[in-house]
Amino acid sequence: MEVFRIRGGVPLHGAAAVAGSKNAALPILAATILARGPLTLRNVPRLTDVAALVELLEQLGVAVDADRDGAGRCLRVRTIDPLPSFSHHEPARRIRATFCTLGPLLARRGHAVVPLPGGCRIGRRPVDLHLKGLAALGAEIRIEQGHVIARAKRLIGARVSLAGPSGPTVTGTANVLAAATLARGRTTLLDAAREPEIVDLGRFLIAMGARIEGLGTSTLHIAGVEQLAGCDYCVTADRIEAATLLVAAMITRGSINLTNVVPEHLAAVLELLAEAGARIDLGPDWLRLIAPQVVRPIRVLARPYPGLPTDVQPQLTALAALADGDSNIRDEVFPQRFAHLRELARLGADVRGGAGEAAVRGVRRLHGARVAATDLRGGAALVLAALAAEGTTTVRRIDHLDRGYERFERKLRGLGARIERLAEVPAVGGVQWPVSAPQPEAVAARNA
Ligand code: UD1
Repeated sequence: MEVFRIRGGVPLHGAAAVAGSKNAALPILAATILARGPLTLRNVPRLTDVAALVELLEQLGVAVDADRDGAGRCLRVRTIDPLPSFSHHEPARRIRATFCTLGPLLARRGHAVVPLPGGCRIGRRPVDLHLKGLAALGAEIRIEQGHVIARAKRLIGARVSLAGPSGPTVTGTANVLAAATLARGRTTLLDAAREPEIVDLGRFLIAMGARIEGLGTSTLHIAGVEQLAGCDYCVTADRIEAATLLVAAMITRGSINLTNVVPEHLAAVLELLAEAGARIDLGPDWLRLIAPQVVRPIRVLARPYPGLPTDVQPQLTALAALADGDSNIRDEVFPQRFAHLRELARLGADVRGGAGEAAVRGVRRLHGARVAATDLRGGAALVLAALAAEGTTTVRRIDHLDRGYERFERKLRGLGARIERLAEVPAVGGVQWPVSAPQPEAVAARNA
């Protein structure tokens, strides 16, 4: 296990290039199962979630080779017939996005066996809408020993609603959309997710030969085709990484220039940061933010796109902790997503609440402490708070962060942050997780 050691209190200044989107790359990678020809995927972020999905795909008969290109990781992908529909891959259970292989396997092989995704610290995450959507396309679905087993000779187009209690499901839309591309006849997806990552998946499917209309709206029309071919596709920028870096500049009262970004995807975040006092300039693929000295309190309401992303709610909660007054944070997508509050409190944040809502009273300063990431974005919130805190913070369980941020510490160091990745020495005789000096070579290399 590794930890981040952060010496806070330094305003971040500088430029950073945003990586490819995790939440676009994962369903796109899963959808490569659909293709008959070779594919090239560019701008794929180097993340442990991506590596786990690649490993699973390899077991499912998809050959994946990686080489580097200027913009990030470039993957060359080939499906090998006959495609197996089952794998004994263990991480498939832990990495929720592996569930995105369900629709593609079913559409291409007529048979899929996919483990039900495990629990998650951000709250209840059912998959009933995925199953309902695929069943509406004619799949026979049963659940046995923790696996979804789905069969269909050939899926048949239908009208399907993907609305859940708190809005549309994002990966559910990805699963049913991907499956419908090879269904016989026309499919209409109502209440579909409008997230940029779904638009990116749709564009990728279209590049393979799929016929899809309505991307970016909540009604998608898909005309099924007989087969999909290979293509060359560049994954869109990660709006959540971009937002996290913007908040890093804001919380440390610094400034940042982001490149490789799609500002339009960040409209709700930019509006909120501007209301909090940021000066923001933007172009077609760049953004500049200059933080105010005093951050005004914020009202965060996390909702499906184009609303504020739930994946930025924890980072904005960290920002609110240092705002000048009382902020209110609500999450309608994942009302239980407040595990980070307790850890933020260890850094001196005045935070209360938890059931769908939090009240945050801004304090003048946070102080360094030992904290542990509770989940991916909650972990990012702790890193941001630590960057602004006085003194030294140790953040444990950074494996959560490696799932979704490509070399986070390097990017932050490029902006002047004092952050190191260190090996964690196991607790001995009641001593609580002391951190060693940077010792193993692997760790030193990664810090380079
Ligand atoms: C995706 C993102 C995740 C983000 C979330 C919301 C990926 C890989 N992950 O997760 O980062 O936080 O969207 O933007 O893209 N629901 C149901 N039934 C279902 C599915 C979902 O009721 O079958 C509910 C959930 O409980 C939740 C809401 O719908 O309240 C949204 O969940 P969903 O959009 O499915 O999240 P994910 O796709 O898992």
